[in-house]
Amino acid sequence: MNTLINDIEVIKTDQTTINNVDFDNLQFGHVFSDHMLECDYKDGKWHAPKVVPYGPITLDPSAKIFHYGQSIFEGMKAYKDEDGNILLFRPLDNFKRLNISAKRLAIPELPEAYFMEGLKALLKVDSDWIPKKEGCSLYIRPFIFATGKGFHASPADEYKFLISTAPSGAYFAGKLKVLIEEKYSRSANGGVGFAKAGGNYAGQFYPTQLAIEKGYQQVIWTDDNTHEFIEEAGAMNIFIRIKDTLITAPISDRILDGITRKSIIELAKAEGLNVEVKKITVSEVVAAAKDGSLKEMFGAGTAAVISPIAGFGYKDEDFELPELENTYAGFLKKRITDIQTNKCEDPFGWRYKV
Ligand code: PLP
Ligand code: COI
Repeated sequence: MNTLINDIEVIKTDQTTINNVDFDNLQFGHVFSDHMLECDYKDGKWHAPKVVPYGPITLDPSAKIFHYGQSIFEGMKAYKDEDGNILLFRPLDNFKRLNISAKRLAIPELPEAYFMEGLKALLKVDSDWIPKKEGCSLYIRPFIFATGKGFHASPADEYKFLISTAPSGAYFAGKLKVLIEEKYSRSANGGVGFAKAGGNYAGQFYPTQLAIEKGYQQVIWTDDNTHEFIEEAGAMNIFIRIKDTLITAPISDRILDGITRKSIIELAKAEGLNVEVKKITVSEVVAAAKDGSLKEMFGAGTAAVISPIAGFGYKDEDFELPELENTYAGFLKKRITDIQTNKCEDPFGWRYKV
């Protein structure tokens, strides 16, 4: 039977799969909740979204997503607090970034109400899928891709916006060993690095596979021009602590404007830590590793939250980071997850009750 939630039409499944899920042993993004949000762009406009049962979709083989890669996505998380409230973290920032990505990939921008009201309706319908276990959350994946047909290399005339969700545990199992990239690039000036475009990730897989073969888990991306400036850590922004200063690269054409990154900058400053947003070279980091002033490196992103780096490789040399008892990474991760899960005050107004 169809119902309305937040003015969004809801078509519920009569076959829940929630009882097959082991909520005590969740992997990341591996099982999917019962429903998804579906919204189509046709005849020059986005049509009202619907919550529908989760399942496969059919596409024409000439759909432009397959040939020209018009595809963008977002990553968010929902949490449940002690009182059962459904909470999001800065969701409007994800909405705005989705439209920044859309514009760059010549995809029509989505109305805010379709994103926000659609997402809220979906979360209310699948509220039982939000894990309560510490360190777990409902990972939310909003995405848009070109469904319009034709081999002409031009923007499609039809698109689909979907949101699917996955109850998830940690993205990485432990500390990371990373390789600083000297040859391949994730992005370039004037390119699409600042957008969350599917192709940005496909382009990372091969260099990351090579790094994995050498015993690392992730690639640290450097600038495409000189490979001398440190930019991102796989699908995360990167923070480097030298002595007591936390450094992160300024965002640019080539770097995703991460919501976790900007939250960490604000939070760390509010906590009195010394934060510098500035370009940092590989040579500076190597020199700091050698003289002992390199204290921490960590990746920051929605999926991985804050992921400490245990060591890095560069030009056939390996460098280890010290094992500190009290880390900025640990402190900031606790602060941010406490805000996200309503375990403390939120002086920044980041928490969003659904
Ligand atoms: N950088 C890249 C390339 C990413 O894919 C992500 C993940 O979304 C991030 C940074 C972190 O962004 P956010 O904190 O908004 O998830
Ligand atoms: C996220 O952190 O949400 C991301 O989108 C990274 C992803 C590629 C898993």
